Amino acid sequence: MIKIKKIERIIWMLDVSIKNLGFSYNDKQGMVLGDINMEVKKGDFVCLLGQSGCGKSTLLRLLAGLEKPTRGQILIDGSPIQGPSLQRGVVFQDYGLFPWMTTGENITIAIKHRFPEMNKAEQKERALYWMKNVDMDESLYNKLPGELSGGQKQRCGIARAFAIDPPILLMDEPFGSLDAVTKAKLQDLILRLWQQEKENRKTIFFVTHEVDEALLLATHISVLSQSPANIMYSHSFEGKIKPTRSNLHREPEIIDLRNYLIKLIHEDAEIRATKE
Ligand SMILES: Nc1ncnc2c1ncn2[C@@H]1O[C@H](COP(=O)(O)OP(=O)(O)OP(=O)(O)O)[C@@H](O)[C@H]1O
Ligand SMILES: [Mg+2]
Repeated sequence: MIKIKKIERIIWMLDVSIKNLGFSYNDKQGMVLGDINMEVKKGDFVCLLGQSGCGKSTLLRLLAGLEKPTRGQILIDGSPIQGPSLQRGVVFQDYGLFPWMTTGENITIAIKHRFPEMNKAEQKERALYWMKNVDMDESLYNKLPGELSGGQKQRCGIARAFAIDPPILLMDEPFGSLDAVTKAKLQDLILRLWQQEKENRKTIFFVTHEVDEALLLATHISVLSQSPANIMYSHSFEGKIKPTRSNLHREPEIIDLRNYLIKLIHEDAEIRATKE
């Protein structure tokens, strides 16, 4: 059995506060994000829903510190984001693995950066622990990404993100290019990993354009309107029935919410089509 050395975890409160956030890539293009306001508590699982091109990835890039707000601000525990940080891990749709590095190297390079005090054996131990946690066989440790299936590549991306233990995790359509069965397995996996941390759960921002995926994963759903994006609808499952695979098409309250979200996104897309 793989044992993992206990590491000191930095304790952060990590409430995320998005205030009057507006963003434009350049003056000619106009605003991509209009006026976004959001209060997110530590341990929330926020799904950002919206049609293609509305600015979901842009919002995630701002949260990652890869872009700076044009207007307004994003505060973490009251302090504005200054740039990329190990406090915020990212999982991409296209996996973001270095193609010339093996699974093990892709994970240990991140561990080395986050825990420079660890020796090589400890880094490997931690990488194998997280591979096991995402149901990746140890035999894949020395395989290159090109030798892995899409699902295996994304398991590697998830293992790498969790191995550095970021209190905030940003996920941009991470299962967008996977088949339905693999996608369902990975949705269950991410829920299990998030839930098992109990009172120390990560805060997750998860971008998707699939209503069912948002319903299954989120504690909070925010729907973005077309660009310049605003939040046109927010839903919290606190104190309400939580959607699961078994009640998604059975529970009247959830069926109503599901239909409402689909209609909202479709109507927004129609408004856009008539404008174009
Ligand atoms: N680096 C960039 N420079 C200029 N414009 C950009 C850049 N990245 C995105 N955009 C524009 O910003 C808008 C929002 O793009 P974004 O990628 O955030 O949308 P999205 O909601 O993630 O879409 P999708 O669901 O298709 O991934 C689009 O009009 C896009 O063309
Ligand atoms: Mg996107």
